[in-house]
Amino acid sequence: MTRNRTITVRINGRDHTAAIPTRKLLCDFIREDAGLTGTHVGCEHGVCGACTVLVDGRGARSCLLFAVQAEGRDIQTVEGLGTPESMNPLQKSFMKHHALQCGFCTPGFLMTLTEFLKGNSRPTREEIREAISGNLCRCTGYTGIIDAVSAVVEAGSDTTGG
Ligand code: FES
Ligand code: FES
Repeated sequence: MTRNRTITVRINGRDHTAAIPTRKLLCDFIREDAGLTGTHVGCEHGVCGACTVLVDGRGARSCLLFAVQAEGRDIQTVEGLGTPESMNPLQKSFMKHHALQCGFCTPGFLMTLTEFLKGNSRPTREEIREAISGNLCRCTGYTGIIDAVSAVVEAGSDTTGG
């Protein structure tokens, strides 16, 4: 028998409350209950990084967490970085440097890199390469992504949020 529980999860500064099965994954809560479909689900077992969000500022694979584990935590998704009308510097740089093609992996890269740049504001290309080693992209060959990050580092842009 599936047990339901009502939980409230704070995502991008807003509380989302829903009655959900206790085994529901955080990625599914974000997409289905909070309606934030920017977080993508690829492999569903912690390998591809597409579902990466920030939990209390730390990168986490939302396909490996139950939604109930996010109660009382502060979640940030790609929607918390910027909007199509007002993208943050990292998002703009991705666009400018062709760091995406199909875009499926992009939210995960952006969240991984947001955390990374908070801890290292002047990374080398090698450090950037290492930082994204847990995120898979089938389209870009990664060079455009590294170029995009290098450009915001060079410009000294604030990439910490929206
Ligand atoms: Fe979560 Fe691939 S969908 S790591
Ligand atoms: Fe298509 Fe990365 S842009 S998977």
